[in-house]
Amino acid sequence: MRKRTLSGMQPSGRLHLGNYMGALANWVKFQDSYDAYFFVADWHALSTNYENTAPIRDYCREMLVDWMAAGLDPERCVIFQQSRVPEHAVLHVLFSMITPLAWLERNPTYKDQQANIADRDLTTYGFLGYPVLQAADILIYKPQAVPVGVDQLPHVELTREIARRFNHLYREVFPIPETPLTEAPKLPGLDGRKMSKSYGNAVFLSDSPAQRWDKVRTMVTDPARVRRTDPGNPDVCPVFDLHKVFSDRATRDEMAAGCRGAGIGCIDCKKRLNAFLDITFTPIHERRQAIARDNAAVEAVLIEGSRRAQQVARATLDEVYDAMGIVPFGN
Ligand code: TRP
Ligand code: SF4
Repeated sequence: MRKRTLSGMQPSGRLHLGNYMGALANWVKFQDSYDAYFFVADWHALSTNYENTAPIRDYCREMLVDWMAAGLDPERCVIFQQSRVPEHAVLHVLFSMITPLAWLERNPTYKDQQANIADRDLTTYGFLGYPVLQAADILIYKPQAVPVGVDQLPHVELTREIARRFNHLYREVFPIPETPLTEAPKLPGLDGRKMSKSYGNAVFLSDSPAQRWDKVRTMVTDPARVRRTDPGNPDVCPVFDLHKVFSDRATRDEMAAGCRGAGIGCIDCKKRLNAFLDITFTPIHERRQAIARDNAAVEAVLIEGSRRAQQVARATLDEVYDAMGIVPFGN
């Protein structure tokens, strides 16, 4: 039997190349070697956006379209939405009973985010309990592998602790999931900082080839290379960082030498990079156009995927009730 994998993303709207390289590209690979489940964590989006819920629905749709355009295939994996499988909430309540407060208070993302997101009140019960809900999301599918980026590792560690505690208190219900270490290069954005939607420096999967080239063309380079005749240093150039991820070895070597010897101009260097970006992202953009036109089909994927996920979630919940000895009185 194939091992099971599960992962999710909070809906944040259109995904960029950093999201693609950081997670999505690995998910696409995983769908053929695992019994794979991928979901939109729309309840988690409420933890920081409860005052402004209006965009969440569109963000879910945009993200799903990106997933499917990138190659997640509903014939080869289960794609679903958290809020369509309310069993997650039931398991969350049960886990909340056995999770010591201290485990949540020492979660590094709890303090980081409260410090970084200064414009919102995050002193809520739901925000503190974010990782408990995440543990329920994960364990209800009993996956062996949870592919996530490094930023999520503390949450998955807490998931393992909750699983161990449950298994110890009642009986062995949950396997302890691993986080497979996958190659996930960090991408610089157009200004050289980490690519991020909130920095306004991102290239999106939904950008047309022309929009993408427009962004790449104006990307910052080695600031010391002012004129075409100035030699440059690829080691300090974000364009070259993208070459390292997307271009072949020969091109990369040629660009580095040409830059150091002032043999090529930055525009040529960017054109060569863009040709490699075209290989991956032009087909994704084309598929995206087609998928985005058919809203009903996207919704149908989510409904059918959620139905399949719910069957698994219900079976686990039955086991959990049984292990805890809480068959409803009267049955
Ligand atoms: N916390 C994840 C994020 O910020 C989303 C998430 C929620 C998740 N539940 C999960 C990821 C379960 C993996 C497994 O994107
Ligand atoms: Fe960067 Fe390429 Fe220009 Fe060198 S030639 S500074 S690597 S864009």
